[in-house]
Amino acid sequence: MILDWKKIAEKIYTEIRKKIAENEKKPWLWVILVWDNPASISYINQKRKFAELVWMNFYLKHFEENTSEDILMEEIESLNNRDDIDWFIVQLPLPKYIHEQRVIDTIDPKKDVDWFTKENIWKLFLSEENWLISCTPKWIKKLLDEYDIGLKWKNVTIIWKSNIVWKPLSLLFINHAATVTVCDIFTKNLDEHTLKSDIVVSAAWVANLINENMIKPWTVVIDVGFNFVDWKVMWDCDFIGLEKDNYITPVPGWVWPMTVAMLIENTYLAFLNKNEWTN
Ligand code: GUN
Repeated sequence: MILDWKKIAEKIYTEIRKKIAENEKKPWLWVILVWDNPASISYINQKRKFAELVWMNFYLKHFEENTSEDILMEEIESLNNRDDIDWFIVQLPLPKYIHEQRVIDTIDPKKDVDWFTKENIWKLFLSEENWLISCTPKWIKKLLDEYDIGLKWKNVTIIWKSNIVWKPLSLLFINHAATVTVCDIFTKNLDEHTLKSDIVVSAAWVANLINENMIKPWTVVIDVGFNFVDWKVMWDCDFIGLEKDNYITPVPGWVWPMTVAMLIENTYLAFLNKNEWTN
């Protein structure tokens, strides 16, 4: 059975669009981009498209590839200090010569609508969940909620451990009483973990890492892996083998629609709750 996140994203846009249309003041989404990475450009085009669809204002500050970290930091400081800008994001990945976490942590946490700064991630660690959490963990939880898939009593395997997405997801699941195993691409006998799991999330970016022999029937399989093999796009999970007796996220389509929908929702919620957030 397919977990249809496009339908959920459409529902979110319809609701937000209706609410913003009724409001005279419109929220802004500010994006900083360094470099012309094609994946980031198309991500940003999606952000612009859906921001405009729901009547949000969109502004892109685009720096060229060799922009120094200092110039980028200056721009962030200036946005932090501007009263007319409530929040903004820095599109990732940044070029290799820029220290990504140092840049992220320059963002004022109250303007961090991506929820990537140390201070905001720390809130998840302390179980202080609020209406904003970072976009990828947020859509995964939302997808499960929409299909009435609870986390209590569940064994979950998450394959990967990045600081801004997968560690926060493991914290979110732990906060909701799941039993969480976080694996690496170096985990020995991965199937020993996945076979015990009710939910498997793979972001290892290893083509066909998970197949039908590695999970029990009616496992929830969330595939966030994207791989190029011989010029062909392949996913972490063998969709054909897994589709029949499991709950699985669709391919192709990947995660963009939901991640973008969550950014739009976060921006809208930040707009609605501005006073609560900034005080
Ligand atoms: N690059 C890929 N996903 C994201 C995201 O959710 N936020 C930002 N800022 N950059 C990204």
